[in-house]
Amino acid sequence: MLRAKIIATGSYTPERKLTNFDLEKIVDTSDEWITERTGIKERRIANEKQSTSDLAYEASKAALRQAGLKAKDIDLIIVATVTGDMPVPSTACLLQNLLDAKKAAAFDINAACSGFIYGLSIADSFIRSGTYKKILLVGAETLSKFTDWEDRTTCVLFGDGAGAVIIEAANGENGIISTEIHSDGSLWELLNLPGGGSKNPPSKETLNKRLHFLKMKGNETFKVAVRTLESLVVDTLKKNNLKSSQLSALIPHQANLRIIQATANRLGLSMDKVVVNLDRYGNTSAASIPIALDEAVRIGRIRHGDYVLLEAFGGGLTWASALIKW
Ligand code: COA
Repeated sequence: MLRAKIIATGSYTPERKLTNFDLEKIVDTSDEWITERTGIKERRIANEKQSTSDLAYEASKAALRQAGLKAKDIDLIIVATVTGDMPVPSTACLLQNLLDAKKAAAFDINAACSGFIYGLSIADSFIRSGTYKKILLVGAETLSKFTDWEDRTTCVLFGDGAGAVIIEAANGENGIISTEIHSDGSLWELLNLPGGGSKNPPSKETLNKRLHFLKMKGNETFKVAVRTLESLVVDTLKKNNLKSSQLSALIPHQANLRIIQATANRLGLSMDKVVVNLDRYGNTSAASIPIALDEAVRIGRIRHGDYVLLEAFGGGLTWASALIKW
């Protein structure tokens, strides 16, 4: 059986840490509130010169190194991001240039926090159709550059980082077993960045109204996220005739510890099977799953033959899952 297999992972997070105590000095918040409501303790912040493609570049180099491949071996580069360097060209094209990956086609996808799993789904189809053999998939974000540092309801949540995987065509049982992607555009207003696009082109007014920053109706989003993710993970296992007891690891999008706990609970999974790193990085949108995956792989938490379930929920709204036999 031809399967798309993740043969290597890599990640990068900027050096600068911003703790909850640092945030107490910027907005009216507290370490206690942030920890209790979200589970986040600190996040990483890119420096002034670092854009999303720079973070993606570091993560990609680490993945290529682990795979023992050169950038010129890559057929296709997909970058999942909502914080690209610029509207045109794509961040994937900028990454292709940084890597000098001359052979690769390159494009971005925007599915917000579900972007990495959407990317897996696309990569899986391209591999199984025989179109591409070696794909570099990256989730990369510099959310700090689109965060309203005067809005305590959002600025405590997000962080910067990048994670990358190399996906290869492989014969056998190991690889991506299934992916599911879903959207509901009717709920777009729950999470958006309204300024700078064709609906609200950049102007003094859009700047004054702070439309170039991320907006979220957190509480409403929370409720939809819990409900949606609970049924998504149950459905994914059911469709693949797998019991949750057969899962070695759940790697959720890292938005909120309470959402993660609710999802694990619905599956009857103990938290020691759930990969959590949001205490250190906050919500890094499309980057959160590949960073967590890379950390889990590097410490030997995921081994050959393990069943691993990935799931995410984000702006769009979008949600997605991937079941992998490692
Ligand atoms: N510090 C202190 N108080 C804060 C605060 C902060 N940083 N942010 C909000 N508050 C206050 C609110 O003003 C509100 O006060 P009020 O009761 O006087 O009006 C109170 O805390 C509760 O706010 P609420 O928004 O109801 O809290 P919550 O329990 O829903 O937690 C989030 C807020 C954002 C942490 C949570 O809703 C969440 O994680 N949402 C989903 C995020 C997500 O999954 N997004 C999609 C993927 S990116």
